[in-house]
Amino acid sequence: MRTQVAIIGAGPAGLMLGRILERAGVDAVILERRSAEYVLGRIRAGVLEQGSIELLDAVGVGERMHREGLVHDGVELSFDGDTHRLDFTSLINRHVMVYGQTEVTHDLMNARAASGATTIYEASDVRLLDFDGDGARVEYRKDGQTHVLECDFIAGCDGYHGVSRVSVPASALQTFERVYPFGWLGVLIDQPPVADELIYAHHERGFALCSMRSPARSRYYVQVAQSERVEDWSDDRFWDELRSRLNPATAEALKTGASIEKSIAPLRSFVAEPLRFGRLFLAGDAAHIVPPTGAKGLNLAMSDVKALGTALVEYYGEKSAAGIDNYSQTVLRRIWKAERFSWWMTSLLHVFPETGAFGRRIQRAEFDYLTGSHVAQQSLAENYTGLLD
Ligand code: FAD
Ligand code: DHB
Repeated sequence: MRTQVAIIGAGPAGLMLGRILERAGVDAVILERRSAEYVLGRIRAGVLEQGSIELLDAVGVGERMHREGLVHDGVELSFDGDTHRLDFTSLINRHVMVYGQTEVTHDLMNARAASGATTIYEASDVRLLDFDGDGARVEYRKDGQTHVLECDFIAGCDGYHGVSRVSVPASALQTFERVYPFGWLGVLIDQPPVADELIYAHHERGFALCSMRSPARSRYYVQVAQSERVEDWSDDRFWDELRSRLNPATAEALKTGASIEKSIAPLRSFVAEPLRFGRLFLAGDAAHIVPPTGAKGLNLAMSDVKALGTALVEYYGEKSAAGIDNYSQTVLRRIWKAERFSWWMTSLLHVFPETGAFGRRIQRAEFDYLTGSHVAQQSLAENYTGLLD
């Protein structure tokens, strides 16, 4: 089989890139290790920046998002029970959309199926070959046979644990990493959210986040030590811990019950540089990881593939390599800004084992500065809703 662009991974990055290319008449095949059902079963991000909303609209898959998604004009920050609302509309006249990653993936998968474009699910042992030469190849196994996909370019959209980044010789890659000594224990429940907007809470027992997926489905997280195991967290234990970290009125209003999903995600900051190696490009979590505190992971994946898709379309349409030549440099600038914001939000809102009394006073001072300063709030709002470039 031959295609112009072989896309590795059918997560949000791979599917969105496929959609951008398909609409411009560039042929692409997506190879995904898992089944479509498995990909849709992973509960991950929940907040879309304005740029991601606009991109979904631009590629013609925004209809259900506008119907079912929840437009949020602000968030609440809480520090040891003291609360402050940030109003994005009055601060910077922007907003975000609460619409789960699962739904985004679903919409992109449906659009791809309707277009007839090829996605090969359950492709195992994917190998990236000859991407430093004149034409690349991808080998994979499916139904007990080895197949070869010949292509002009490979887009590595296969997440942090994928094969693309590790196919690059270590000497050609520089990586930057910070692993945080804690994770987020997340619970999904079919109960109305405790508040109309998200609540990001710092408490001496650790961070907590009240989020949602719909008016009837809520998503909650608490910071837990790296050593914690999900089996040790009964629903009751989770709700007690969450309540203890919220202000009393919010804790009182919380509607609890049996969870429908519970998992622990580790927190990490990671960037690989550069993001192009001959005919191979990295995008999304394959290229970088942010701790989830700033709700940036999914949004960065979207902005990467918007840039990569535009560059590839330009390459085929206008015979110009300028976009693909500049891809790495252009997206890394935005990536590092999102890394900075996510690291900063994480530092402000979590309890670190090494923080100590001085560090906690500094965190409190940061919160007090923020709640008392219009420009500091504008800065947070600008980053949270998504930088324009
Ligand atoms: P992915 O979504 O990881 O998609 C990569 C795809 O590639 C997967 O479908 C995978 O099966 C496939 N793949 C992997 N290896 C291969 C291979 N060898 N061959 C073929 N296919 C392969 N962000 C937030 O903002 N908020 C959150 O609450 C949040 N929670 C998260 C929880 C977890 C457990 C994880 C891992 C991430 C979370 N994120 C969150 C981050 C966000 O979900 C990601 O940034 C986003 O999924 C990135 O999309 P992607 O398409 O780049 O990668
Ligand atoms: C969600 C996840 C986040 O990381 C975040 O910052 C906000 C919301 C969520 O899963 O709903």
